[in-house]
Amino acid sequence: MSQQLGTLEDLPEDYRADMQKAGVAPLWPMMRNVLPHGAPKPQTAAGYWNYQDIRPLLIRAGELTPVEKAERRVLVLSDPGRGVGAMQATASIYLGLQLLLPGETAPAHVHTPSAVRIIVEGKGGFTVVDGEKLPMEEGDLVLTPGGEWHDHGHEGEEPIVWLDALDLPLFYYLEGSYAKEGPLQSQRNRPDASQVEYLSAGLAPTRRPGAGVRRYPMMRYPWARTEAALRAMAAYGGDEIAELDYVNPETGADILPTMGFTAMMLPAGSKHEPPLRSSSAAFHVIRGRGKTRINGETFEWGPKDTFSVPVFSEITHEADADSFLVRVHDRPLQDKLGYYEERSR
Ligand SMILES: [Fe+2]
Repeated sequence: MSQQLGTLEDLPEDYRADMQKAGVAPLWPMMRNVLPHGAPKPQTAAGYWNYQDIRPLLIRAGELTPVEKAERRVLVLSDPGRGVGAMQATASIYLGLQLLLPGETAPAHVHTPSAVRIIVEGKGGFTVVDGEKLPMEEGDLVLTPGGEWHDHGHEGEEPIVWLDALDLPLFYYLEGSYAKEGPLQSQRNRPDASQVEYLSAGLAPTRRPGAGVRRYPMMRYPWARTEAALRAMAAYGGDEIAELDYVNPETGADILPTMGFTAMMLPAGSKHEPPLRSSSAAFHVIRGRGKTRINGETFEWGPKDTFSVPVFSEITHEADADSFLVRVHDRPLQDKLGYYEERSR
Protein backbone atom coordinates (compact mmCIF):
# COMPACT_ATOMS: atom_id res chain seq x y z
CA MET A 1 0.00 0.00 0.00
CA SER A 2 0.93 3.64 -0.32
CA GLN A 3 3.52 4.84 2.16
CA GLN A 4 5.79 7.82 2.48
CA LEU A 5 9.02 7.19 0.60
CA GLY A 6 12.37 8.53 1.68
CA THR A 7 13.52 11.88 0.26
CA LEU A 8 16.88 12.99 -1.09
CA GLU A 9 17.31 15.17 2.00
CA ASP A 10 17.14 12.06 4.20
CA LEU A 11 20.47 10.97 2.77
CA PRO A 12 23.86 12.18 4.10
CA GLU A 13 25.56 14.88 2.04
CA ASP A 14 28.73 12.85 1.44
CA TYR A 15 26.63 9.98 0.02
CA ARG A 16 24.76 12.38 -2.26
CA ALA A 17 28.04 13.87 -3.46
CA ASP A 18 29.50 10.42 -4.14
CA MET A 19 26.41 9.40 -6.11
CA GLN A 20 26.67 12.60 -8.14
CA LYS A 21 30.30 11.79 -8.97
CA ALA A 22 29.41 8.22 -9.94
CA GLY A 23 26.57 9.42 -12.21
CA VAL A 24 23.77 7.66 -10.35
CA ALA A 25 20.68 8.78 -8.44
CA PRO A 26 18.35 7.02 -6.00
CA LEU A 27 15.01 6.02 -7.47
CA TRP A 28 12.89 6.14 -4.34
CA PRO A 29 12.67 9.95 -3.88
CA MET A 30 11.46 10.24 -7.51
CA MET A 31 9.45 7.03 -7.65
CA ARG A 32 6.03 8.71 -7.33
CA ASN A 33 6.87 11.21 -10.09
CA VAL A 34 7.32 8.46 -12.63
CA LEU A 35 4.87 5.93 -11.18
CA PRO A 36 2.04 7.84 -9.45
CA HIS A 37 -0.75 5.82 -7.82
CA GLY A 38 -3.88 4.90 -9.73
CA ALA A 39 -3.65 7.27 -12.71
CA PRO A 40 -1.04 9.32 -14.58
CA LYS A 41 -0.33 12.91 -13.56
CA PRO A 42 -0.28 14.70 -16.93
CA GLN A 43 1.84 17.76 -17.54
CA THR A 44 -0.62 18.63 -20.33
CA ALA A 45 -3.31 21.19 -19.45
CA ALA A 46 -6.60 21.70 -21.28
CA GLY A 47 -6.15 24.24 -24.10
CA TYR A 48 -8.48 26.36 -26.19
CA TRP A 49 -7.60 28.21 -29.40
CA ASN A 50 -10.07 30.73 -30.83
CA TYR A 51 -9.80 30.79 -34.61
CA GLN A 52 -11.01 34.39 -34.92
CA ASP A 53 -8.09 35.47 -32.69
CA ILE A 54 -5.52 33.42 -34.58
CA ARG A 55 -6.65 34.11 -38.15
CA PRO A 56 -5.34 37.72 -38.32
CA LEU A 57 -1.98 36.49 -36.98
CA LEU A 58 -1.84 33.86 -39.71
CA ILE A 59 -2.70 36.40 -42.41
CA ARG A 60 0.01 38.69 -41.04
CA ALA A 61 2.48 35.80 -41.15
CA GLY A 62 1.63 35.63 -44.86
CA GLU A 63 2.70 39.29 -45.24
CA LEU A 64 5.79 39.00 -43.04
CA THR A 65 7.24 35.69 -44.18
CA PRO A 66 7.14 34.40 -47.76
CA VAL A 67 6.62 30.67 -47.96
CA GLU A 68 10.17 30.29 -49.37
CA LYS A 69 11.45 31.58 -46.00
CA ALA A 70 9.18 29.30 -43.99
CA GLU A 71 8.94 26.05 -45.98
CA ARG A 72 5.74 25.54 -43.96
CA ARG A 73 4.01 28.72 -42.68
CA VAL A 74 2.50 27.49 -39.44
CA LEU A 75 1.43 28.85 -36.06
CA VAL A 76 1.78 26.08 -33.49
CA LEU A 77 -0.94 25.47 -30.88
CA SER A 78 1.10 25.11 -27.69
CA ASP A 79 -0.03 23.09 -24.69
CA PRO A 80 -0.70 25.58 -21.84
CA GLY A 81 0.82 23.03 -19.44
CA ARG A 82 4.17 23.35 -21.23
CA GLY A 83 3.87 27.01 -22.24
CA VAL A 84 3.82 28.98 -25.49
CA GLY A 85 6.51 27.67 -27.80
CA ALA A 86 5.92 24.04 -26.84
CA MET A 87 5.86 22.04 -30.07
CA GLN A 88 2.91 20.00 -28.87
CA ALA A 89 -0.72 20.31 -27.78
CA THR A 90 -0.63 17.11 -25.70
CA ALA A 91 2.11 14.61 -24.86
CA SER A 92 1.77 12.90 -28.23
CA ILE A 93 -0.12 15.31 -30.51
CA TYR A 94 1.28 18.32 -32.35
CA LEU A 95 -1.20 20.83 -33.78
CA GLY A 96 -0.50 23.79 -36.06
CA LEU A 97 -2.53 26.12 -38.25
CA GLN A 98 -0.95 26.43 -41.69
CA LEU A 99 -1.51 29.21 -44.24
CA LEU A 100 -0.99 28.95 -47.98
CA LEU A 101 -1.67 31.96 -50.22
CA PRO A 102 -2.97 31.79 -53.80
CA GLY A 103 -0.23 30.73 -56.20
CA GLU A 104 2.10 29.55 -53.45
CA THR A 105 3.71 26.13 -53.23
CA ALA A 106 4.97 24.43 -50.09
CA PRO A 107 7.91 22.38 -51.41
CA ALA A 108 8.02 18.58 -51.46
CA HIS A 109 9.44 16.81 -48.46
CA VAL A 110 9.16 13.55 -46.60
CA HIS A 111 9.53 12.92 -42.87
CA THR A 112 9.30 10.20 -40.27
CA PRO A 113 6.26 11.60 -38.36
CA SER A 114 2.79 11.21 -39.90
CA ALA A 115 0.46 14.12 -40.52
CA VAL A 116 -3.22 14.71 -41.10
CA ARG A 117 -4.69 17.98 -42.37
CA ILE A 118 -8.16 19.13 -41.47
CA ILE A 119 -9.13 21.92 -43.84
CA VAL A 120 -10.32 25.02 -41.99
CA GLU A 121 -11.09 27.51 -44.77
CA GLY A 122 -10.50 28.32 -48.43
CA LYS A 123 -10.94 26.72 -51.82
CA GLY A 124 -8.47 25.61 -54.46
CA GLY A 125 -5.76 24.18 -52.24
CA PHE A 126 -4.35 20.72 -52.82
CA THR A 127 -1.82 18.29 -51.42
CA VAL A 128 0.09 15.83 -53.56
CA VAL A 129 0.93 12.54 -51.83
CA ASP A 130 2.61 9.74 -53.74
CA GLY A 131 1.66 11.49 -56.99
CA GLU A 132 -2.00 11.68 -56.03
CA LYS A 133 -3.48 15.19 -56.14
CA LEU A 134 -5.82 15.56 -53.19
CA PRO A 135 -8.26 18.50 -53.25
CA MET A 136 -8.53 20.32 -49.91
CA GLU A 137 -12.07 21.47 -49.19
CA GLU A 138 -13.42 22.68 -45.86
CA GLY A 139 -13.64 19.86 -43.34
CA ASP A 140 -11.79 17.36 -45.52
CA LEU A 141 -9.25 15.15 -43.82
CA VAL A 142 -6.08 14.60 -45.86
CA LEU A 143 -3.39 12.09 -44.85
CA THR A 144 0.32 12.37 -45.35
CA PRO A 145 1.60 9.25 -43.59
CA GLY A 146 5.22 9.10 -42.42
CA GLY A 147 7.59 8.18 -45.25
CA GLU A 148 5.30 9.54 -48.01
CA TRP A 149 6.50 12.46 -50.11
CA HIS A 150 4.11 15.42 -50.04
CA ASP A 151 3.83 18.99 -51.28
CA HIS A 152 1.05 21.56 -51.15
CA GLY A 153 -0.22 23.95 -53.83
CA HIS A 154 -2.96 26.54 -54.19
CA GLU A 155 -4.92 27.31 -57.37
CA GLY A 156 -7.67 29.36 -55.67
CA GLU A 157 -8.23 33.07 -55.09
CA GLU A 158 -8.33 33.34 -51.29
CA PRO A 159 -5.99 32.18 -48.53
CA ILE A 160 -6.35 28.56 -47.49
CA VAL A 161 -5.85 27.47 -43.90
CA TRP A 162 -5.67 23.99 -42.50
CA LEU A 163 -5.03 22.39 -39.15
CA ASP A 164 -2.04 20.04 -39.10
CA ALA A 165 -2.12 17.16 -36.61
CA LEU A 166 1.13 15.19 -36.31
CA ASP A 167 2.60 12.53 -34.06
CA LEU A 168 5.75 14.68 -34.05
CA PRO A 169 6.19 14.77 -30.21
CA LEU A 170 6.45 11.01 -30.18
CA PHE A 171 9.08 10.91 -32.93
CA TYR A 172 10.98 13.76 -31.31
CA TYR A 173 10.93 11.93 -27.97
CA LEU A 174 12.26 8.82 -29.70
CA GLU A 175 14.96 10.95 -31.38
CA GLY A 176 13.55 9.68 -34.64
CA SER A 177 12.27 12.89 -36.20
CA TYR A 178 13.83 14.13 -39.45
CA ALA A 179 12.85 15.30 -42.94
CA LYS A 180 14.27 15.22 -46.49
CA GLU A 181 13.56 17.73 -49.25
CA GLY A 182 13.03 16.94 -52.91
CA PRO A 183 11.57 18.21 -56.20
CA LEU A 184 7.79 18.67 -56.63
CA GLN A 185 6.06 15.41 -57.56
CA SER A 186 4.49 14.80 -60.93
CA GLN A 187 0.77 14.27 -60.47
CA ARG A 188 -1.31 11.45 -61.84
CA ASN A 189 -3.90 12.73 -64.27
CA ARG A 190 -7.00 11.45 -62.46
CA PRO A 191 -9.09 12.21 -59.36
CA ASP A 192 -7.89 10.84 -56.01
CA ALA A 193 -8.87 7.40 -54.68
CA SER A 194 -11.73 8.79 -52.53
CA GLN A 195 -13.45 9.80 -55.80
CA VAL A 196 -12.62 6.65 -57.77
CA GLU A 197 -11.80 3.36 -55.99
CA TYR A 198 -13.39 4.14 -52.62
CA LEU A 199 -16.40 6.21 -53.58
CA SER A 200 -18.79 4.21 -51.44
CA ALA A 201 -18.42 2.68 -47.96
CA GLY A 202 -18.33 -1.12 -48.13
CA LEU A 203 -17.04 -1.21 -51.70
CA ALA A 204 -13.38 -1.71 -52.53
CA PRO A 205 -11.60 -2.41 -55.82
CA THR A 206 -11.69 -6.10 -56.79
CA ARG A 207 -8.74 -7.97 -55.34
CA ARG A 208 -6.63 -9.66 -57.97
CA PRO A 209 -4.54 -12.65 -56.89
CA GLY A 210 -1.08 -11.60 -55.84
CA ALA A 211 -1.85 -7.90 -56.16
CA GLY A 212 -0.83 -6.25 -52.93
CA VAL A 213 -2.91 -3.53 -51.32
CA ARG A 214 -1.31 -0.17 -50.70
CA ARG A 215 -0.71 0.47 -47.02
CA TYR A 216 -2.57 3.77 -47.34
CA PRO A 217 -5.13 3.19 -50.10
CA MET A 218 -7.14 6.38 -49.46
CA MET A 219 -5.47 9.63 -48.46
CA ARG A 220 -8.49 11.96 -48.48
CA TYR A 221 -11.77 11.73 -46.58
CA PRO A 222 -14.17 14.30 -48.08
CA TRP A 223 -16.16 16.16 -45.41
CA ALA A 224 -19.43 16.23 -47.37
CA ARG A 225 -19.69 12.43 -47.09
CA THR A 226 -18.69 12.39 -43.43
CA GLU A 227 -21.33 14.97 -42.55
CA ALA A 228 -24.03 13.12 -44.52
CA ALA A 229 -23.17 9.89 -42.68
CA LEU A 230 -23.25 11.61 -39.28
CA ARG A 231 -26.59 13.26 -40.05
CA ALA A 232 -28.06 9.91 -41.12
CA MET A 233 -26.93 8.35 -37.83
CA ALA A 234 -28.15 11.28 -35.77
CA ALA A 235 -31.58 11.20 -37.43
CA TYR A 236 -32.27 7.90 -35.67
CA GLY A 237 -30.32 8.58 -32.50
CA GLY A 238 -32.57 11.09 -30.72
CA ASP A 239 -30.30 13.57 -29.00
CA GLU A 240 -27.52 10.96 -28.78
CA ILE A 241 -24.12 11.84 -30.15
CA ALA A 242 -23.24 10.31 -33.53
CA GLU A 243 -19.61 9.25 -33.89
CA LEU A 244 -17.69 7.77 -36.81
CA ASP A 245 -14.06 6.68 -36.82
CA TYR A 246 -11.89 7.35 -39.85
CA VAL A 247 -10.57 3.96 -40.97
CA ASN A 248 -8.50 2.41 -43.71
CA PRO A 249 -11.16 1.24 -46.23
CA GLU A 250 -9.23 -1.96 -47.01
CA THR A 251 -8.49 -3.14 -43.48
CA GLY A 252 -10.86 -1.26 -41.15
CA ALA A 253 -7.81 -0.32 -39.08
CA ASP A 254 -7.09 3.18 -37.81
CA ILE A 255 -5.93 5.47 -40.61
CA LEU A 256 -2.51 5.96 -39.00
CA PRO A 257 -0.41 3.80 -36.67
CA THR A 258 -0.33 6.29 -33.80
CA MET A 259 -3.15 8.82 -34.23
CA GLY A 260 -6.89 8.24 -34.47
CA PHE A 261 -9.60 10.52 -35.85
CA THR A 262 -13.28 10.47 -34.95
CA ALA A 263 -15.98 12.66 -36.53
CA MET A 264 -18.74 13.65 -34.12
CA MET A 265 -22.15 15.23 -34.44
CA LEU A 266 -23.65 16.78 -31.33
CA PRO A 267 -27.30 17.58 -32.08
CA ALA A 268 -28.56 21.03 -30.97
CA GLY A 269 -29.50 20.99 -27.28
CA SER A 270 -27.66 17.72 -26.59
CA LYS A 271 -25.31 17.04 -23.70
CA HIS A 272 -22.63 14.39 -23.88
CA GLU A 273 -20.44 13.02 -21.10
CA PRO A 274 -17.90 10.54 -22.51
CA PRO A 275 -16.07 8.12 -20.22
CA LEU A 276 -12.66 9.07 -18.83
CA ARG A 277 -10.18 7.91 -21.45
CA SER A 278 -6.49 7.13 -21.10
CA SER A 279 -5.93 8.86 -24.48
CA SER A 280 -5.20 12.55 -24.86
CA ALA A 281 -7.18 14.38 -27.52
CA ALA A 282 -7.91 17.58 -29.38
CA PHE A 283 -11.29 18.61 -30.76
CA HIS A 284 -11.59 20.73 -33.89
CA VAL A 285 -14.95 22.36 -34.57
CA ILE A 286 -15.96 22.07 -38.20
CA ARG A 287 -19.28 23.79 -37.64
CA GLY A 288 -21.61 24.60 -34.75
CA ARG A 289 -21.49 26.25 -31.36
CA GLY A 290 -21.48 25.07 -27.79
CA LYS A 291 -19.41 24.67 -24.67
CA THR A 292 -17.27 21.97 -23.13
CA ARG A 293 -16.35 21.59 -19.47
CA ILE A 294 -12.95 19.95 -19.02
CA ASN A 295 -11.98 19.05 -15.45
CA GLY A 296 -14.18 21.88 -14.12
CA GLU A 297 -13.02 24.55 -16.61
CA THR A 298 -15.53 25.66 -19.26
CA PHE A 299 -14.58 26.61 -22.84
CA GLU A 300 -17.14 28.14 -25.20
CA TRP A 301 -16.44 27.20 -28.79
CA GLY A 302 -17.60 28.19 -32.26
CA PRO A 303 -16.77 27.24 -35.83
CA LYS A 304 -13.10 26.49 -36.58
CA ASP A 305 -12.02 26.66 -32.92
CA THR A 306 -9.84 23.93 -31.40
CA PHE A 307 -9.53 22.66 -27.83
CA SER A 308 -7.47 19.94 -26.19
CA VAL A 309 -7.89 17.56 -23.27
CA PRO A 310 -5.27 15.76 -21.16
CA VAL A 311 -5.51 12.04 -20.43
CA PHE A 312 -8.35 10.88 -18.14
CA SER A 313 -10.16 14.23 -18.41
CA GLU A 314 -13.71 14.60 -17.17
CA ILE A 315 -15.49 16.10 -20.18
CA THR A 316 -19.02 17.45 -20.69
CA HIS A 317 -20.00 18.74 -24.13
CA GLU A 318 -23.15 20.84 -24.62
CA ALA A 319 -24.21 21.91 -28.11
CA ASP A 320 -26.25 25.07 -28.74
CA ALA A 321 -26.60 24.28 -32.45
CA ASP A 322 -26.12 21.09 -34.50
CA SER A 323 -22.36 20.79 -34.13
CA PHE A 324 -19.72 18.82 -36.01
CA LEU A 325 -16.30 18.19 -34.50
CA VAL A 326 -13.32 16.02 -35.34
CA ARG A 327 -11.57 14.43 -32.37
CA VAL A 328 -7.85 13.76 -32.82
CA HIS A 329 -6.54 11.25 -30.29
CA ASP A 330 -3.73 8.84 -29.56
CA ARG A 331 -5.81 5.73 -28.88
CA PRO A 332 -4.20 3.73 -31.77
CA LEU A 333 -0.79 4.15 -30.14
CA GLN A 334 -2.15 3.18 -26.71
CA ASP A 335 -3.94 0.17 -28.20
CA LYS A 336 -0.64 -1.00 -29.66
CA LEU A 337 1.12 -0.50 -26.34
CA GLY A 338 -1.72 -2.45 -24.72
CA TYR A 339 -2.93 0.05 -22.13
CA TYR A 340 -5.83 2.01 -23.67
CA GLU A 341 -8.54 2.24 -21.02
CA GLU A 342 -11.91 3.88 -20.38
CA ARG A 343 -13.22 4.51 -16.89
CA SER A 344 -16.75 5.43 -15.90
CA ARG A 345 -17.20 8.82 -14.23
FE1 LIG B 1 5.29 17.70 -44.08
